[in-house]
Amino acid sequence: MLSIDQIGRYHRDGFLAIEDFASPSACAALRARAVGIVDEFEPSGNRTVFTTDEQERTSNTEFLDSGSGIWCFFEADAFGPDGELTQPKALSINKIGHAMHDLDPVFEAFSFTTELAAVAEDIGLHDAVALQSMYIFKQPRIGGEVGCHQDATFLWTDPLSVTGFWFALEDATLDNGCLWAQPGGHLGPLRQVFRRTDDGEAHDSLTRFDVLDDTPLPSPPDELVPIVAPAGTMVVLNGLLPHWSDVNRSATSRHAYSLHCISAAAEYPDWNWLQRPADVPLRPLAATAQRLTTADDAHLAAR
Ligand code: FE2
Repeated sequence: MLSIDQIGRYHRDGFLAIEDFASPSACAALRARAVGIVDEFEPSGNRTVFTTDEQERTSNTEFLDSGSGIWCFFEADAFGPDGELTQPKALSINKIGHAMHDLDPVFEAFSFTTELAAVAEDIGLHDAVALQSMYIFKQPRIGGEVGCHQDATFLWTDPLSVTGFWFALEDATLDNGCLWAQPGGHLGPLRQVFRRTDDGEAHDSLTRFDVLDDTPLPSPPDELVPIVAPAGTMVVLNGLLPHWSDVNRSATSRHAYSLHCISAAAEYPDWNWLQRPADVPLRPLAATAQRLTTADDAHLAAR
């Protein structure tokens, strides 16, 4: 899938943007399905907010359980002083997470493709398994900032292997909160890990951050570069790359989908926040894509 030049730039910069990776119809199908999931979502009293300042991430049981389910998280600014939504639910959700790629057929078809498996192979992730999916709305006017972070903080493996595949489903611009990243920043150390605290002891929170290296993360936006991405672009992100996105105060949403993969051979500790029960195993990108393609072919042949 990738040229030698693209592979070289990925390893040099820690990220690579590939325009026109996803077709307009595939992007539209994902957007429509996300709207449908939100429409069907009726939280039973507990409106989980996804706090986009990573240091203050709200950790509750819905968040921790969403690793093997589908949950909608609200924008922190979606509620008025009376605690009620100030705009329709469809415009109040921060993101959906975190197992749509395994549980929803539309997200599954978008996530497990032979093209994506080939890109993972090209950048050296030879045994990629899909770990986490997120649909990010970056809503007009209230879309929250995502603080500068490294994905390996949240999905740690030994050796480090997490790789992000981020898809612009709508144009991501300087006005509506596009990604920003530090070119070459993946060559620096992992600053911290986010971990469960359910070790049998009493804790204030279900999760905590442990500092591994006190080298400061780059300050946005001055030390970062914007990744303006037309709809259909896929951005591949090394798990150590510091990246950030700003608030969206524009009138335009910035829908995006991200899929995080790890190496099947890497050790995955039980203190990572995202845990999957044994009956929802992680699936390999390449083999699952091949199986879905074969099933599609058989379906078409039978018609
Ligand atoms: Fe990230």
